Amino acid sequence: MRAIIRHRYAIRLAFALLLATVSGGVWWFGYGQALAQIEERGKSDLALAADWLTAQLQRYQELAVLMAPHPTLVALSGGRGGEGAAKALLLDAADKTTARAVVYADSEGHVLASAFGDAGEILRGRPYFERALHGALGVYHDVDPASGRRAFHFAAPSFASDGRVQGVLVVSVDVTSVEENWRGDGPPVFFVDDNKRVFITNRSELLFWERRGDMAGLVPPVGARPAFREITRAGYALWRLDWGPYVPNLGLHLVKPLPVIGMTAEAVIDAAPARQLAGLQAAVVAALILAFGIFLDQAMRRRQVLAQANAVLEERVAARTEALSLSNTQLRREITERQEAEAALKKAQADLVQAGKLSALGQMSAGISHELNQPLMAIRQYADNAALFLEREKPEVAGDNLGRISAMAARMARIIKNLRAFARNESEPMGKVDLVQVIETAVELTSARLRAEDVRLTWDMPEGAVLAWGGEVRLVQVFVNLINNAADAMAGVADKEITISLRHDARLAVDVADTGPGIEDPDRIFEPFYSTKAVGSSDGMGLGLSISYGLVQSFGGAIRGSNSARGAVFTVELDPWSEEAAA
Ligand SMILES: Nc1ncnc2c1ncn2[C@@H]1O[C@H](COP(=O)(O)OP(=O)(O)OP(=O)(O)O)[C@@H](O)[C@H]1O
Ligand SMILES: [Mg+2]
Repeated sequence: MRAIIRHRYAIRLAFALLLATVSGGVWWFGYGQALAQIEERGKSDLALAADWLTAQLQRYQELAVLMAPHPTLVALSGGRGGEGAAKALLLDAADKTTARAVVYADSEGHVLASAFGDAGEILRGRPYFERALHGALGVYHDVDPASGRRAFHFAAPSFASDGRVQGVLVVSVDVTSVEENWRGDGPPVFFVDDNKRVFITNRSELLFWERRGDMAGLVPPVGARPAFREITRAGYALWRLDWGPYVPNLGLHLVKPLPVIGMTAEAVIDAAPARQLAGLQAAVVAALILAFGIFLDQAMRRRQVLAQANAVLEERVAARTEALSLSNTQLRREITERQEAEAALKKAQADLVQAGKLSALGQMSAGISHELNQPLMAIRQYADNAALFLEREKPEVAGDNLGRISAMAARMARIIKNLRAFARNESEPMGKVDLVQVIETAVELTSARLRAEDVRLTWDMPEGAVLAWGGEVRLVQVFVNLINNAADAMAGVADKEITISLRHDARLAVDVADTGPGIEDPDRIFEPFYSTKAVGSSDGMGLGLSISYGLVQSFGGAIRGSNSARGAVFTVELDPWSEEAAA
């Protein structure tokens, strides 16, 4: 868990670094682009201002050059008079060009004519005059110490026929009047002269500010230095300054040299919009990255939660599976146990059936031995008699005796065969059984006992076979039991009679009725080990009816016992056998 948290912190740190790097890069690039645009616009603004100024001054320069060789002025310098005409000429020119002063001087520097004021001024020593004396065009600017006004001076020479400079025409311009139409327009532009002093500007507060030494910024001639710092951003040199409300606090510094008028044009272009634009771009990119990061973080967290839930689920499934397989094996074990118990039960039932049969045989053994003994004695008698008749040469009678012997032997064989079949301990298949034959056998097996106990048996045997579903030996066992029980019940009764009848309704039904005392407790007779007979006696296990019940039920039949007016009646119901049902 701690590892996961540490991992998440590392990812967040990496993401923050990425965010800072990318948005910083966007800022830098965007700032550079915006500054490039601003620089381009600023350069054209600066060029426009410089061109405008030089064009303004050019007029006066050209005026000086064109007027210097004027014949009126030349005549004046030749001492040929005409001062009035010359003054009028100069005044006319000054009025038309709004020049502050137009004067004509001789080579000595004496002013011969002036548009305003009087002649007589000495120009000797003034730089522009000296340059004109040398045949060049004199350009100079200065500040009038008396009025404090700035002025530009243009001095053009007038050459004599021998090439000598015979006179100089000077045109002076008031810079303030030039500036007038320009002030406050566009970005701050200032023209710095050779003395590193602001001489012309569209921001009057910057006038006469100076650049001292090799410093980049400017300072006012008197008073405290305003804040100034030169910084580099996105490859551009920017000025951060506090030069009053009309100069931007952050500006791009541009320079354009103007050698014609001996100055440098400089401008401070506001860089704040570029900074704002770059800041905006960086903020947008940062916001996008941040949103993406948050989305990613949420997705990761959701995935983690899902994985945890999955793990819990898997754990539960595994636990359930284990429990299930455990109960499965338990179930399988129980099934095996049940199967084993069932097999044991079946075996016990089979054993019981066998025990029941043996018990019945025990009950009948006396009768059976009598049944076999009697014909044996008779056979012996008949055989002796047959021998005697043969001696007396009466072969017909002897043959008759032998026939009887044969019949008796056959009857004994049948009895023994029935006994063996009855006592056999093996399962027989269920199928077609002749019910008449079954009852015949049961009667035959019990006849010896009944005769010994003086019991009458009435059995109205139907003609032909009556076929039922069942097992022959087991059905015989059922009827032997019923006959034996009836005989047992009638032990103390004078008139002993068993009536067996076969009915054929929806099912086949065999009634075994007796003339005994009836059933004591009809509800309990089919319970195993329920017996009213003497405990410990050979007859009285209480199993006969319960075994019979199981056997009949296994054939799909039913057995029940009730009391009638004369005694007890037991009814065995069976399904009739049919070809279709067997198929
Ligand atoms: N025909 C009958 N008349 C009166 N009571 C009967 C008759 N048949 C059966 N019973 C009663 O039902 C009881 C149970 O009979 P069942 O054949 O199951 O056992 P048992 O005859 O007592 O002993 P076993 O048959 O095991 O030797 C008998 O003890 C008897 O009380
Ligand atoms: Mg019995």
